[in-house]
Amino acid sequence: MKVLFATSEMAPWVKTGGLGDVSGALPAALRSIGHDVRVLVPAYPALLQAFPGATEIARPHWLGGLLPTPSLRQALTPDGTPLLLLDYGHYYDRPGNPYLGPEGRDWLDNHLRFGLLSRVAAWLGSEASTLNWMPDIIHCNDWQTGMAPAYLAYRAERPAKSLLTVHNLAFQGLFDHASLFELGLPDAAWSMHGVEYHGYLSFLKAGLQHATAISTVSPTYAREIQTDAEGMGLAGLLRHRASDLTGILNGIDTRDWDPLRDRHLPRHYGPRRIDDKAINKARLQEEVGLEVRADLPLLAVVSRLTEQKGLDLFLAIAQKTIDLPAQIVVLGSGAHALEHGWSAFAHRHPGRCAVRIGFDEGFAHRIEAGADIFVMPSRFEPCGLNQMYSLRYGTPPVVRATGGLADTVIDAADERHGNGFVFGPPTAEALLDALRRAVAAFRDPVLWRKLQKHGMARDSSWAESAGHYIALYKKLLD
Ligand code: ADP
Ligand code: GLC
Repeated sequence: MKVLFATSEMAPWVKTGGLGDVSGALPAALRSIGHDVRVLVPAYPALLQAFPGATEIARPHWLGGLLPTPSLRQALTPDGTPLLLLDYGHYYDRPGNPYLGPEGRDWLDNHLRFGLLSRVAAWLGSEASTLNWMPDIIHCNDWQTGMAPAYLAYRAERPAKSLLTVHNLAFQGLFDHASLFELGLPDAAWSMHGVEYHGYLSFLKAGLQHATAISTVSPTYAREIQTDAEGMGLAGLLRHRASDLTGILNGIDTRDWDPLRDRHLPRHYGPRRIDDKAINKARLQEEVGLEVRADLPLLAVVSRLTEQKGLDLFLAIAQKTIDLPAQIVVLGSGAHALEHGWSAFAHRHPGRCAVRIGFDEGFAHRIEAGADIFVMPSRFEPCGLNQMYSLRYGTPPVVRATGGLADTVIDAADERHGNGFVFGPPTAEALLDALRRAVAAFRDPVLWRKLQKHGMARDSSWAESAGHYIALYKKLLD
């Protein structure tokens, strides 16, 4: 099968969260099963620098509305995945985060920037394409490529089939009515059955409405988003499309995230040498200025600091947590109130709590290896990758029972399979209760080693999930 994987992020070059990780690993996993998967991604500065020799292979034109004529450049990743770099300097040659300007606000022309990405994905999947490679399936990801299925529906001759994977229903790509014309969509698209959503144009809804099929990144999240409580205003549409909606759990890049080989770690370790994890802990404590103490459980967070991740709940009980006693290390960035709240707390408790605001890949790896317990009190979590990194790094996670967290972490109460701690209500009390249980278990070395081993033995590779995507693609083509 020929598949065009369209995405707005791709690790290791451009990543703001899990979508980047998935785009960096899934296409290669699909290729290794024998399918011809190529990735369409904007030519951000980091990608142009990484692939200076990328040659132009097409110039899609007459795309409609105010959309410009970009250049498509071809490159090959080190693992052999062909990239189609969507080059239009005025849109993508901007520093920093792909979505936000220097003041931390969305770029005002994001509808055009990701409209162009969606439009070119659809162009590649239609007869208009001048390439001699015609995909059978356009695999779209989140709102940024959500308009592609609509373009396939309204603007393409003999269109390819499309799959929209929802990584996060909270980001919907909402723009005003005028963008309909700017994006070159017909007036007919402005309807409840088209791209309109409560008076706005919604990229995500457009994709959910028009994609041949929809998937999301865990079976539990696939069920949750069909309920009014968790459907973020789209539950009705998702229920309507229930027979076309599946949940496929994410995998992780097991070469990048492997404590036996991780290039970021001071000391490698594995299931048969868990003791060496202690060296990573001591070095991490040193690195962030915490008291170097093996006896204190070190709790960790690596996360976007947003409402979704529930880190306000953790902050509310941070004092009680360090009094257990325990230490806390936090790496993240996002909402000002959370950045400020956590930084102020760390400032008041040197030696016990360390906070770093920012995005630092290497530090994230050292935290996974050096911490004892990983904390993810998410209000919702489509899949979540950090809990899987934690399991693999022998760092039992404490998670709320939601989305992919519920599908990957098994509570210690299950003596034969338990690999972490799971709590229910999204409250500070329930989290504290779970943290207490985790800290008590940490003090029981035999139990702790068992939990670590269960986690480290879990297969989080992409192999199985890639197989599910292939089966889904096949179904689309039947
Ligand atoms: P989401 O995509 O909702 O942010 P995921 O758990 O799926 O959540 O993926 C987050 C990814 O981003 C993980 O690879 C995590 O390590 C990484 N990450 C998040 N915040 C930071 C940070 N401040 N520094 C480094 N990596 C981070
Ligand atoms: C989103 C979700 C996260 C998921 C990631 C990759 O950003 O918030 O739970 O793991 O996408 O699918």
